[in-house]
Amino acid sequence: MNVKYKVDHMNGPEKPGTVLFLHQDAGFLDQRTELSSFRRIIQPLLSSESFKGEFKEGVNIIQPADENCLILVGLGKKDELTEGRLSEATALGVSMARRLNLREVTLAIPPLENIDPRATLGLMVLGSKLGAHKRTTFKTDPGPSDEHDLKTVTLCQIGSKDPLEKAQQVVNRATVMAEAQLEARRLADLPGNLLFPLDFAEEAKRVALKHKLRITVWEEDKLALEGAWSILAVGQGSSHPPAVVIVEYFGRSPNREPIALVGKGVTFDSGGLCLKPSENMGSMKSDMSGAAVVLSVIAAAAEMRLPQHLVGVMPMAENMPGGKAFRPGDIVKTLSGQTVEVINTDAEGRMLLCDALGIAQKYKPSEIIDIATLTGACVVALGDRVAGLFTESDRLHTAIVDAGRSVGEYFWRLPLFSEYDDNLKSDLADLRHMSGRPAGALHAALFLRRFVKPKFPWVHLDIAGTARRSKASAGYPEGATGFGVRTLLKYLIDNQRQHSQGVDE
Ligand code: BES
Ligand code: ZN
Ligand code: ZN
Repeated sequence: MNVKYKVDHMNGPEKPGTVLFLHQDAGFLDQRTELSSFRRIIQPLLSSESFKGEFKEGVNIIQPADENCLILVGLGKKDELTEGRLSEATALGVSMARRLNLREVTLAIPPLENIDPRATLGLMVLGSKLGAHKRTTFKTDPGPSDEHDLKTVTLCQIGSKDPLEKAQQVVNRATVMAEAQLEARRLADLPGNLLFPLDFAEEAKRVALKHKLRITVWEEDKLALEGAWSILAVGQGSSHPPAVVIVEYFGRSPNREPIALVGKGVTFDSGGLCLKPSENMGSMKSDMSGAAVVLSVIAAAAEMRLPQHLVGVMPMAENMPGGKAFRPGDIVKTLSGQTVEVINTDAEGRMLLCDALGIAQKYKPSEIIDIATLTGACVVALGDRVAGLFTESDRLHTAIVDAGRSVGEYFWRLPLFSEYDDNLKSDLADLRHMSGRPAGALHAALFLRRFVKPKFPWVHLDIAGTARRSKASAGYPEGATGFGVRTLLKYLIDNQRQHSQGVDE
């Protein structure tokens, strides 16, 4: 599906379909002079209260005369509109058009008070791409063919004003961003039996070939040679060996140190010997969401030709309770040299990440961002719409939270208080890899901190809650979300702008 941008006077619904976005606030139609041609059609609905403009309220009106259809989507109250809501409302409008079997649809870009026009356009592109997407399933009858899919979404700026500056760049970048999010989602949704660690490496090779990235895959021998025993420990209970996938992108500005992105890649997390309860265990097929995000972000950065040097480190393993599985009580030597006492084999993510952080540091990065479906405790704390963020760098905190908000993904900082460091002391090893239930997300982050040089600009993102949704909503079917792709890309775009003083803008 293609998204286009145009400026036009809309004189009523176009053939074959138009989507209008309306606020809930009383009298909104009077303030929207550009919609005067629609008033005749909309007013009766408003008067009869069959459409109130509540957030994500959608109605469609088929014009009896010529079968054009008009779709109204609510944006809710003006001061409650967020970037996330705008993108979801757009997805709702487009998915309604898709379900009406339209091939083309025109969306009127609403003038918004609290979101600027460029951001509005970008968010509407994101929402459109997600709303139009039809995911592939494994059903033997695939249903109607692609020919009947929605082909074009036109985002229309109504009125006589000049076209938005650099609108095409906004559209292009948001399109790449949305496609990267959908790709991360596709990978994260793949069931455990169809994506083992080396299959992920194959996916990465395909991506690397397409985008001319350097790729290195460390298999078991190399991991042993490098001393990544912690990654090997997690993988040893599975008959599908672990691997570390390293992908490098060299954008223009080759002298700059790379930004390292590290993503947890557990292709299936059964919990290992500390087996998880069977209820919802299936959702652990997306425990490699972090790795999927990292791979998709680097591919998209290459596609956008961002002038960055990036290295992505994706430690991949299947956490299984096979006969060779690692056990509670095991003492494991990590790549850093520090020894770790294993307490619970279900806390495997941090054991992958601690070695992966060591590998990332070999590339002498300027900063490290890790992203992982790390703790159930983070889900309890922040739910499925807000991810946890841990860092000692106020710059990274602000930059990531801001980048996230502007693309409709939300992060909230949780503390890295050294007060809890004592809880990671072990009598037998340099440290134990977890404490008890209290402050579970914090203890995981504190554990990871031990594997990064003091004061090094590092941020840990816990996406355990946001990586999937258990209930479908517009643009988001039940399952993986691709959460984090938008934020990291936006962060890289903004970061590049700072460094290059806008030359690439
Ligand atoms: N992959 C899970 C975390 C998770 C939970 C992700 C729910 C998504 C949704 C992780 O490996 C895990 O099992 N963590 C344990 C750690 C505990 C044993 C210290 C947890 O959070 O229960
Ligand atoms: Zn686990
Ligand atoms: Zn896990």
